[in-house]
Amino acid sequence: MSKDDFIIRADGLYKSYRMGATQVNVLKGLDLAVERGEFVAIIGASGSGKSTLLHILGALDKPNRGVVEFEGRDLDKQSGRELNRFRNKMVGFVFQFYHLLDELNVLENVFLPAMASKSVVGWFGCRKWAKNRAGELLVRLGLGERAGHKPYQLSGGERQRVAIARALMNEPRLLLADEPTGNLDSATGNGILDTLEELNRAGQTVVMVTHDERIARRAGRIIILADGKIRT
Ligand SMILES: Nc1ncnc2c1ncn2[C@@H]1O[C@H](COP(=O)(O)OP(=O)(O)O)[C@@H](O)[C@H]1O
Ligand SMILES: [Mg+2]
Repeated sequence: MSKDDFIIRADGLYKSYRMGATQVNVLKGLDLAVERGEFVAIIGASGSGKSTLLHILGALDKPNRGVVEFEGRDLDKQSGRELNRFRNKMVGFVFQFYHLLDELNVLENVFLPAMASKSVVGWFGCRKWAKNRAGELLVRLGLGERAGHKPYQLSGGERQRVAIARALMNEPRLLLADEPTGNLDSATGNGILDTLEELNRAGQTVVMVTHDERIARRAGRIIILADGKIRT
């Protein structure tokens, strides 16, 4: 397989946190490779470093040592400006607690990443397009009637679908989901997994982390994170 078949690769990742006098070693030489078009679940116990790993893959955090390559390019060799672009355009994040803005309505929450990537003038030129795309994403996620509502008026499952729409707004190459069903009952959680599965069938690469084996089984491939490494 050529190097270019991997959308993201991690090699020898180390990450530790200092808490006062003690050092917590979370990642201890972790290697990982995900192919374009995969739906991967990374499963690990609470505290095993799943969120830490996902944040590093999405360039929200840096490893102490090791390399992350996205489409063959070393993230550590990119400028701050390039990394901002990477976070905004190349990856989409979905979190356990949605992280929607209650001051904005659903449609505004969804198009926010497009607005964030533009200058004032640039936004003026594309806002109509962006609002249309956000509206279409909401329809696709079954929330067409909810565009004008505020997040706090929605159920947990609906909020998570808004968060997924937001993550998809800028057409990311990679969707990263951190315990996306962790705050939902199992029926609602299954609906979210159906959505991720459908997106994957349509070509979206997805990396999801979870502590729950039943949830992980919904993915095309399961990777086990234990003792700071991928278990092989
Ligand atoms: N910012 C931080 N400062 C100190 N310790 C942290 C920090 N973030 C995570 N940790 C610790 O690192 C370990 C892994 O955390 P995390 O990646 O959140 O695990 P998971 O998502 O698998 O539950 C835990 O022991 C956690 O307490
Ligand atoms: Mg976590």
